[in-house]
Amino acid sequence: MAGRLENKVVLLSGGTRGMGEAQVRMMAAEGAQVIFGGRDGGAGSAIEAALGGRATYVRLDVTKSDDWKAVVAHAMDRFGRIDGLVNNAGFGVTRPLAEISDEEWADVIAVNQTGVFLGMREVVGPMLASGGGSIVNVASPAGVKAHGNLVAYSAAKAAVIGMSRAAAKELAGQGIRVNVFIPGYFATRLLMESSKGQGLERGAQVTPMGRVGQPEESAGAIVYLLSDESSFVTGTQITADGGYTA
Ligand SMILES: NC(=O)c1ccc[n+]([C@@H]2O[C@H](COP(=O)([O-])OP(=O)(O)OC[C@H]3O[C@@H](n4cnc5c(N)ncnc54)[C@H](O)[C@@H]3O)[C@@H](O)[C@H]2O)c1
Repeated sequence: MAGRLENKVVLLSGGTRGMGEAQVRMMAAEGAQVIFGGRDGGAGSAIEAALGGRATYVRLDVTKSDDWKAVVAHAMDRFGRIDGLVNNAGFGVTRPLAEISDEEWADVIAVNQTGVFLGMREVVGPMLASGGGSIVNVASPAGVKAHGNLVAYSAAKAAVIGMSRAAAKELAGQGIRVNVFIPGYFATRLLMESSKGQGLERGAQVTPMGRVGQPEESAGAIVYLLSDESSFVTGTQITADGGYTA
């Protein structure tokens, strides 16, 4: 199947590797014009070149509102509309509660929580101007289920779910849908660097399907939530976790 995002302009944060990169590639294959943010220009250019004009890399630190304003302005100058936003960028700090520093707490909240807020805030105006849109915010099982040594990340990911529901209700009558995507354990750098380098093995052990997800397996849910196939879906979440939260 192709063309499910034909004529849609979509922004995505954290698109130069991991699940974000896989989502950029599938969105482009489905016909979207993708503007993907990141902090690795080399990887961004390589993905751009591979997707032949369907995707544009822009530098985006999600914690900086000026960066968001520049990305939105770029999308509007080039395409004149924004139909979708995927707030995918994120990172965690695995550490006992009593050892989390002020700086680690602030960084985790800034990227995972404030970054999502800033992205939503900046696209609402352009989306309203073109009659609506779809926002997908990436949370985590840590936002819905207890995990040790993940207090800051759990706080931020639970906030993503709360913000998404509130925004969905506020914007539902104006044509903007807001939903959450919850990935379980996926084979990305984030997981590989967690649990003292044992993240992949640990993730597979606790996942009923007996393996971690591949980044490509995150992209179908994102395409669905951005497409018109989900036109009556808002304020909810889709989980892809091999049964982990079941
Ligand atoms: N991999 C998993 O097991 C897992 C599980 C649950 C949730 N998640 C979530 O999925 C999303 C994607 O993560 P991933 O697994 O692909 O990991 P990843 O580490 O491969 O990718 C994360 C991306 O976010 C970007 N990023 C981090 N801080 C940023 C900032 N300040 N500004 C812009 N970009 C920034 C990174 O550069 C990277 O491109 C994240 O929100 C993460 O919290 C991942």
